Amino acid sequence: VDEGARLSRRSLLGLAGGLGLAVGAGVGVGVDRALDGEPGARETIPFHGLTQAGITTPQQERLAFAAYDLQLTTPGELRELLRTWTTAAGTLATGSELGSRVQNHWQPPNDTGEAAGLPPARLTITFGFGPTLFETVGLGSRRPSQLASLPPFPGDELDLQRSDGDLCVQACADDAQVAFHAVRNLTRLAFGSASLRWLQTGFLSSPPNEATPRNLMGFKDGSNNLDPSDRTRMAENVWADGGDGQPWMAGGTYLVARRIRIRTESWDRTPIGEQEQIFGRHKADGAPLGGRHEQDPVDARRVPADAHIRLANPRRRGSERERILRRGYNFADGLDPAVGELDAGLFFLAYQRDPRRQFVPIQARLAASDGLNEYIQHRASAVFAIPPGTEPGGYVGATLLGATR
Ligand code: HEM
Repeated sequence: VDEGARLSRRSLLGLAGGLGLAVGAGVGVGVDRALDGEPGARETIPFHGLTQAGITTPQQERLAFAAYDLQLTTPGELRELLRTWTTAAGTLATGSELGSRVQNHWQPPNDTGEAAGLPPARLTITFGFGPTLFETVGLGSRRPSQLASLPPFPGDELDLQRSDGDLCVQACADDAQVAFHAVRNLTRLAFGSASLRWLQTGFLSSPPNEATPRNLMGFKDGSNNLDPSDRTRMAENVWADGGDGQPWMAGGTYLVARRIRIRTESWDRTPIGEQEQIFGRHKADGAPLGGRHEQDPVDARRVPADAHIRLANPRRRGSERERILRRGYNFADGLDPAVGELDAGLFFLAYQRDPRRQFVPIQARLAASDGLNEYIQHRASAVFAIPPGTEPGGYVGATLLGATR
């Protein structure tokens, strides 16, 4: 695990301070999050904290991501669902089964059972709200302006049935069955309140002696990602602040999801020199063109101005403000029946403080001139507000729904 990806106790306390939240000396709820990457916490990631787990958590190897359409219509019903989900998520994160073992023989079991006996596998469950949720439950005035639907981009080929959603659940674990089990059981608990709209699974394996995992184009992905231990940058670029317009989002963030198919057939026939020019990095070690090591600075004389890494981060005045925390997963969903080719690619996930000033301008530049566009298709899109975390006894979403009926 990349040292830099660990959120230190100090940075967490700093975050708490920055958000104006109280953290008790050493044992505050948020401090648990500081244990994410420490030895002894390898199996279990605390569900509770000032921020939700699954954002700064060093990336697990498996993803099950679900989006839901609401069937309920009132804030009170939404509160009940989120209470149920929060309680279940807290239990699942410890590796326990849902409900008691003693059950009525005439009823279906409380837990579907496929994770029985499996370790928690660093399971994290992260909940989010889509832009459409607010009107549906009559809370239109509480929708953050940051949570605007994304504009269309040139080249988008979006499948609307696989896009958007009122609610989302991101389950990450080092075991595919544990992640899937979490989403499946939360879906079951939502019966009658919310129905599954789409589901995306993903995987991401890190080589043992190499910090940065690779995407399905064969390149290291994440070399110049935001460092979650960089307090100042995280406060500036990822965590929503009470002053951002909707105080209930303080300690939350915004997630952009894009299902990006890779045309592996044509990519795999592209010369390596061209592949490297397109990204602006060497394939073998991830060093920027002209550099020798992955973390070498990008030399504008050696990396083409239209390379992916320069369009995504122009490294000019003000572009630091656009930087996002990427946490995507590879996917391989069999064949795309329309073309008879692999339906595989990158399920791009990125956390940020305001998609309008971060994802949108980056993607506008990429959609206009990225050499990668010949080899990729954006097939689905969604944006969610990720509310702050909760203490034991509370529920995710309480800052929004606590005082409503
Ligand atoms: C299939 C689609 C994509 C692939 C395969 C891909 C791959 C990569 C690779 C290999 C790197 C260089 C290593 C690194 O710093 O992580 C990179 C960097 C980056 N990508 Fe992408 N990317 C894709 C889509 C996107 C999208 C849609 C965005 C945002 C709109 C994006 C934003 C970035 C950013 C911000 C960087 C870091 C640039 C830097 O600071 O040097 N990427 N990407």
